[in-house]
Amino acid sequence: MGETISARPKPPPRHTSIRGASEIVAGLRSGRAAARAWSLTIPERQRQQAAWSFVKAAIDGYILTLQRTSGTPIHVSAPAIALVYQLDQTITEMARTLGEQATQVSIEQACYQLSATYTALVPAPTRSALGMYYTPPALAHRMLDMAEKSGIDWKGARVLDPACGGGAFLLPAAMRIRAALAHLGPELQLDAIANQLCGFEIDPFGAWLSQAWLEIGLSDILAKIGGRLPKLVEVCDTLAREPTDALFDVVIGNPPYGRVALTAAQRRYFARGLFGHANLYGLFTDIAMRWTKPAGVIAYVTPTSFLAGEYFKRLRSLLAAEAPPLAADFVHARKGVFEDVLQETLLATYRKGGKVNGADVHHLDVVSDSSARITHAGRFILPADPAGPWLAPRVPDHQSLIDRLSGMPHRLADWGYRVSTGPLVWNRHKDQLRVRADESTFPIIWAEAVSADGQFIYRAEKRGHLPHLHVAPGDEWLKVNVRCVLVQRTTAKEQARRLIAAEMPASFIKKHGAVVVENHLNMIRPASKRRPKVGTVALAAVLNSSIADEAFRCISGSVAVSAFELEALPLPPPGAMIAIEAFIRQRAKPEAIDAQIRTLYLN
Ligand SMILES: C[S@@+](CC[C@H](N)C(=O)[O-])C[C@H]1O[C@@H](n2cnc3c(N)ncnc32)[C@H](O)[C@@H]1O
Repeated sequence: MGETISARPKPPPRHTSIRGASEIVAGLRSGRAAARAWSLTIPERQRQQAAWSFVKAAIDGYILTLQRTSGTPIHVSAPAIALVYQLDQTITEMARTLGEQATQVSIEQACYQLSATYTALVPAPTRSALGMYYTPPALAHRMLDMAEKSGIDWKGARVLDPACGGGAFLLPAAMRIRAALAHLGPELQLDAIANQLCGFEIDPFGAWLSQAWLEIGLSDILAKIGGRLPKLVEVCDTLAREPTDALFDVVIGNPPYGRVALTAAQRRYFARGLFGHANLYGLFTDIAMRWTKPAGVIAYVTPTSFLAGEYFKRLRSLLAAEAPPLAADFVHARKGVFEDVLQETLLATYRKGGKVNGADVHHLDVVSDSSARITHAGRFILPADPAGPWLAPRVPDHQSLIDRLSGMPHRLADWGYRVSTGPLVWNRHKDQLRVRADESTFPIIWAEAVSADGQFIYRAEKRGHLPHLHVAPGDEWLKVNVRCVLVQRTTAKEQARRLIAAEMPASFIKKHGAVVVENHLNMIRPASKRRPKVGTVALAAVLNSSIADEAFRCISGSVAVSAFELEALPLPPPGAMIAIEAFIRQRAKPEAIDAQIRTLYLN
């Protein structure tokens, strides 16, 4: 059954409005779009300063309006950076109006809308280098609910957001601590919040935003006692911040993501969770394990790619050993959850020093910035070797399949195959591409040769694709002369099929002597000179079956269909494929073959 959550706790209305919240949010969004259009007219080297001045003016507008309507004085610390960009009168008005309008929604929504305006104005290279994509209140509240469900008691829990951005987690966490301590006087409430909450942020303006929103959110308490909120956010590079003895009950947040180049010393420091390229969110996951107390909880919003990719195999082993997952929510849509991001997202909690018991899985449908629908989807159990992909039901219907997959030991290696990527990176061989064949050329197998319905069609139809490659002396390694199954390397979950495979017929190879397979395709080839236990036609039929596609969706956490994930795909025992091969030889209908393969997975 689905259940709807909304950002909570609901603050008392500070301002009466005759417009609905969604209409106001839509107004704030279009204000943000107008501000972005304005910022693009500013030379890029000044854009960052312009963003600071604009958002500071918007927050001033918010505070002034709130003070006027509530009668409570609000003191917000000054940003640590000089605001040197002078906004003209019209833009100052625009920013102030945006701030004024934001007083008509909940404080968490206002915090998100104005902080998201900041990230929308920051120059794109800075935004992507720092991974500045702030979390909407619906996800932040769900993450806090999940932390609560894992046993976190706001009455005393110490909370760290190691990449706190505009305060998406610190602000609602402060509100929950405050609500939990409502029976105490304002001084004690404030002391508790000051002792319990901490944020790290590399961007000084982001850090100021977090601190400012905490000061605004606690302004009534601060006014009562005539005090100021101590600095709760530290401007620092979290990657370089060694944990102190004062560890946290919960490390929460939405860490930055994206590939990052590490120094040799950093690579050594993070080696325990690294394999190949480092991704910021993997490093922040390792960091969270270092900053969490024994039996404490990590509550992170991350991409789903770590669940399966080879680059994350050490991180999976590390998590299983140090902080296994407790609960996981898969966010249904890739688009529109984080502004300007297309990403499959997971909300998960992990227990430091916990037992590997598997995790309760939900499916989260984000309805708006402030509400989401949750549906129970089942459980996932970590594999015996946690470095392998973690299979999880992405939709409620997947649970029985997951149970079956967990008991299916056979893989491509057991059938006699291995996977590698097509060797031709065409732009390294541009001057060897040919329109016509001659005795020195071989056919290039581009990704479009594998059609969406699993047929092999020799063609070169996309821009820049030519049909033949002149194979120069020394380039023989590019040639493939064995029968194999080709599989598309990139497919998205919105596509009808994630696994798109075709057998490259032996007759085609025989005719040309060899072929050259381009890098957007995987090649599933015999692992040795011995004949594989299952033929290529049956292998392609299994990969193209609807049930294998569903199984792959439970494995894959990104758009990549990598060799690692294909080699991890559970398959029926080779002996069971004899009947399928006979069925194919009898030219059974594709639907009948599909149904037979399904029974091999489910019965
Ligand atoms: C995905 S945003 C999340 C921000 C905020 N927690 C939220 O959910 O809205 C990631 C944040 O990490 C910050 N960040 C990136 N690299 C960092 C680093 N090395 N140390 C500290 N913060 C960093 C960025 O500036 C950005 O604010």
